[in-house]
Amino acid sequence: MRKQSETLRDEWRALAPNWIHEARVGRNANREGLLDSVVLEACGDIRGRQFLDCGCGEGRFCRLLAQRGAAYVLGLDLCEPMIEAARQLESEVTSYRVADVQDLSFLEDDWFDVAVSYLNQCDLPDFRANTAEVFRVLRPGGRFVVANLHPMRSAAGGWQKDEAGTKQHVILDRYFEEGARHWTMMGVEVTNFHRTLETYISCFLDSGFIVGRIVEPTVSQEILARYPELADEQRVPNFILYVLEKPAVS
Ligand SMILES: C[S@@+](CC[C@H](N)C(=O)[O-])C[C@H]1O[C@@H](n2cnc3c(N)ncnc32)[C@H](O)[C@@H]1O
Repeated sequence: MRKQSETLRDEWRALAPNWIHEARVGRNANREGLLDSVVLEACGDIRGRQFLDCGCGEGRFCRLLAQRGAAYVLGLDLCEPMIEAARQLESEVTSYRVADVQDLSFLEDDWFDVAVSYLNQCDLPDFRANTAEVFRVLRPGGRFVVANLHPMRSAAGGWQKDEAGTKQHVILDRYFEEGARHWTMMGVEVTNFHRTLETYISCFLDSGFIVGRIVEPTVSQEILARYPELADEQRVPNFILYVLEKPAVS
C-alpha cells in the first residue's frame, strides 16, 4: 500500500510542471467551458463559508472560491510542487498543506461548510477513506461536491471510428472490473481508479451522506461556440458530479 502511494505521488510529481504551466497560461476547455460553472453552482452560497478542497492541485479552484467571497479555503494535495505553486498565489483567505486526503486526522470534526473534490477521487486507491473523512470534518448540514470521471468513461473504451476517421460511437468495456487504469497525460504515465456508479453511490450512502443531486455536465451551443473542442460532450458524458449533503441532525 505504501509503495503504491509513493508510486502515485511520483506520477503527480512528474506531471506537476506541465500541469502547473497549463493551469496558469494554457487553455483548459474541460475546466473553463464545462466543469467550473457546474462545480461552483453545486457549492451553493460561497460568500462567508469555510471550504476544504481535496486534491487542490496548484490551487486554481481555491482561488475561484476566494474570488467569490469564501471566508476560508484550505487546499490539500499530496504533491509538494503543486502546493508550492499554490502558495505562490496565496491570499488572505487561502491556505495550503501537503497532505493525503485519505487521512484527514489533523482536521477537527464538524468544521467545514463545504468540501470539494474536483477530479480527485478517481486518483485515490481508497476513495471510501476520503469520503468518510470528509463526512467527519463537515459540519452537520454541510455539503460535499465530488466532480469525477464518469464511470462509463473511466472503465475502458475510446471512440470507434470509421475508415475516414470519423467518430461513430464510444465503446464501453470492462465496466464491472474495478481497479487501476493506466494512461498517458501530458506525456506522463498516470494511474486512475475505475469504480462503478453503484460503488460510488453505495459508498456515499453508507458513509451517511444524502445524495442530493447528480449532474452530468454537457455544453450549450453558446459554450460550444467558444470551446469547439468540447463538441463530444454533447454526445457522451466524460464527467459526473455528486452533490452530497451531511444530514443537519444525526
Ligand atoms: C486531476 S488533478 C486535479 C487538481 C485540481 N483539483 C484541479 O482541478 O485543478 C488531481 C490532484 O489530486 C492530487 N492527489 C492525488 N492523490 C492524492 C491524495 N491521495 N491526496 C491528496 N491529493 C492527491 C494530485 O497531486 C493532483 O494535484
